[in-house]
Amino acid sequence: MPETDDLANVEIDTTRMIGWLPPKSEHVLYDPPVMGHLGMKPELVVPEPTDERIWVEIEPNVCFRPLFFDMNTGGHGEVLRVRKGGVLSKHRHPSPVHGIVLKGRWHYLEHTWVAETGSYVFEPPGEVHTLTVTDDCEEMQTVFFILGPVLYTDDDGTVVHVEDNVGLIEHCKKAYKLNGLGEDFVDQFIR
Ligand SMILES: [Fe+2]
Repeated sequence: MPETDDLANVEIDTTRMIGWLPPKSEHVLYDPPVMGHLGMKPELVVPEPTDERIWVEIEPNVCFRPLFFDMNTGGHGEVLRVRKGGVLSKHRHPSPVHGIVLKGRWHYLEHTWVAETGSYVFEPPGEVHTLTVTDDCEEMQTVFFILGPVLYTDDDGTVVHVEDNVGLIEHCKKAYKLNGLGEDFVDQFIR
């Protein structure tokens, strides 16, 4: 085993970095990966947005902004925002979901509890729910880490739409093309 002092002197061969690096902007910060030669991708830092166009509508009063799309695992991170009343249609998660409420409150029609500002929510694979924000809530924002696709279902539980990273990225591309940010804008969130 090498001594710690030896490791401190290891030099990274930066000439073997991966050739492709994601686009850089004020919306996503990163440094080149020190182990790019091993296929490591750069980290990703998303500052608080100043451009309203970064929010992508998915249903009336319901928007999200991407934090990252992980193309190795199929997971993604987002901030979900609902203003006034809004409903995210019934869906099922085959993979875990983590949520942290930044602002406001919401509940699932299928559960008894309410997630308030500061709450952390863990949803095991198999969760079926309909996210609802009541009219008396001015604005709700929650960070979600959704570690797989989202299966939208009808009332009987039959899957009617599958939303994976590829579909979600396509959705963002369309929205960003329409609002002038450009369809490539979403690329900076992909790893
Ligand atoms: Fe969900």
